Amino acid sequence: MRDEEVSAALLAWYNAHARQMPWRVGPAARAAGVRPDPYAVWLSEVMLQQTTVAAVRDYFNRFTARWPDVTALAEAEDGAVMGEWAGLGYYARARNLLKCARVVSGDHAGRFPDTREGLLALPGIGPYTAAAVAAIAFDRPETVVDGNVERVMARLFAVETPLPPAKPALTALAARLTPRTRPGDHAQAVMDLGATICTPKSPACGICPLRTPCAARAAGIAADLPRKLPKKAKPTRLGIAYIGRRGDGAWLLERRPDRGLLGGMLGWPGSDWAETEPVFAPPAAADWRPLDAEVRHTFTHFHLRLALRVADLPTDCAPIRGSFVAAGDFRPSDLPTVMRKAFDLARCGLGAD
Ligand code: ADE
Repeated sequence: MRDEEVSAALLAWYNAHARQMPWRVGPAARAAGVRPDPYAVWLSEVMLQQTTVAAVRDYFNRFTARWPDVTALAEAEDGAVMGEWAGLGYYARARNLLKCARVVSGDHAGRFPDTREGLLALPGIGPYTAAAVAAIAFDRPETVVDGNVERVMARLFAVETPLPPAKPALTALAARLTPRTRPGDHAQAVMDLGATICTPKSPACGICPLRTPCAARAAGIAADLPRKLPKKAKPTRLGIAYIGRRGDGAWLLERRPDRGLLGGMLGWPGSDWAETEPVFAPPAAADWRPLDAEVRHTFTHFHLRLALRVADLPTDCAPIRGSFVAAGDFRPSDLPTVMRKAFDLARCGLGAD
């Protein structure tokens, strides 16, 4: 099959089977001339990096209800945006999102540039997001490559080189298939195919629109591709978090520095996280009691075991670190997941249910 025939088969499948998503203009509406909102496309593509569509949906709806356009987002307070992002992970994305919104609002009159190059010049927009927004929002013939696309290409062309070394070859193959017409729908079609049919395990080759040209299917190795180099084992780091509550119900919290892990997020004061036994360094003088339970959480590069200490803090408590957040102002949902897990364990220890 020629490349154009493969793209045509994929678009025909997408016309009938495109997934519905709150940020997406489906193929029928698109054909009727409805244009996607670049703000919605950009926001969704940033949220979807390293994150599933199912996890993103509610966050996207909350964000757009609260900040309906890029100028509204640009005017938001940092803490409010970080709070709405809490639980999605990879928090640098939220800090960069805000930087980007402020540049688009301040320097571009609230309008996103409509080319890959223009988008790439914005803070926090890398090659993936620039290509995705250019293709999906502006129908530029850019090639969008994420994990789904890599898997589809590895199978369609039976690329046996493992990832990550295979990335450039898979990108070149994806570029070959990108059509001049409907490149935005094409990009979304490849991703939908990867998410629903050409899945990592047990791909549904029998109903795949590309079963005829698929080289891996012909060779009987679809489920084995893409091959991957072995991953490095993750080390385990240890830490202590201190969860203190004052008599009036206020919680002792700390905003983490902008740079680094969980940067800009609210959290419980605590030790550094290292592979060595953590140093006891409480954020305020009090009778800190250890909890039996510890938090376990896995980050990209390490596992964390977080020991917890809890204390009832005196009314005149003068913390060495952090500051008090009144009970009425504290939303556990503003915490990143690891800190939320700590809270859920500690509230029992403090009788704060
Ligand atoms: N994953 C990331 N972006 C996507 C999109 N636009 N459509 C489907 N899946 C996606």
